[in-house]
Amino acid sequence: MSRIILVPILASDSNSSDSWPRKGTSCISPPETKPQERKPSSFSSPLHHAHPLTAQSRQKLIADGLSTVKFVHLDVTDAASVKAAAQTVSSAEGRLDVLVNNAGISKMGVDQHPESIDLATIREAMETNFYGLVQTTIAFIPLLRKSDNPVILNVSTDMASNSYQAREGAQLHLVAYNTTKAAANSYTISLAQELKKDGFKVNAVTPGYTSTKLNFFGQGGKSVRAGAEVLLPWALVEKDGPTCKFIDGDGKEFAW
Ligand SMILES: NC(=O)c1ccc[n+]([C@@H]2O[C@H](COP(=O)([O-])OP(=O)(O)OC[C@H]3O[C@@H](n4cnc5c(N)ncnc54)[C@H](OP(=O)(O)O)[C@@H]3O)[C@@H](O)[C@H]2O)c1
Repeated sequence: MSRIILVPILASDSNSSDSWPRKGTSCISPPETKPQERKPSSFSSPLHHAHPLTAQSRQKLIADGLSTVKFVHLDVTDAASVKAAAQTVSSAEGRLDVLVNNAGISKMGVDQHPESIDLATIREAMETNFYGLVQTTIAFIPLLRKSDNPVILNVSTDMASNSYQAREGAQLHLVAYNTTKAAANSYTISLAQELKKDGFKVNAVTPGYTSTKLNFFGQGGKSVRAGAEVLLPWALVEKDGPTCKFIDGDGKEFAW
């Protein structure tokens, strides 16, 4: 049976010629080595702005053989939008197999020093990176319960690892980004432990440093495709696969 996967992805694909497919969208393009039946028949892209999917993106999806992809509008910070998206998926598919919580903001470029950060910056990041992730997850759990192999993949960052950031010489102490992603990691652990008995696989995975809009397409990062390739196996994890893991950009287990 085809897998139904929901991934928050692009609302705009005009930032750069290399801006598509993004990490999230790669989940609809499993490697050729994956069995055909793992290829999702349906994919919902939460477009949190009233932003139509461009003709160019549609053409790329079709060129990748993904003509059955579907889209649903979703702003993870807007409860009504999240609820409506869950209802849309429920009506169209009756279940969800994989939820990839990819939506995130970094607030890079705004003051995030521990001694001077504006609380509004933390609150804004929290709305998307933590509350948004939690409310989207809660809204879709009933649909995931209808899957015979429910999977939740929370897209994390090494900067969410308290162990990593506490090491000698650690850098990039971006308070709003790091704390909100660390909170999401903590939620991932709670969720994984709680849902283990019900067969859910819940993991946090970082793609590693990837050049995207989030970091102003920073130099020296992975391509979006390479970042997505780290995430993909954790979206397609099998029934007997691991749960409650934090995985780094090399695909190895990482300290929480
Ligand atoms: N880039 C890296 O080096 C890196 C490293 C580790 C982890 N990550 C994580 O990877 C994930 C994806 O980030 P990215 O690097 O691909 O950056 P990105 O290109 O900016 O992608 C973030 C996506 O989240 C969407 N989004 C933001 N707020 C949303 C909301 N309220 N509702 C629905 N969608 C929303 C954005 O939509 P718009 O395009 O409309 O803004 C965008 O499509 C994030 O969770 C990030 O923390 C990235």
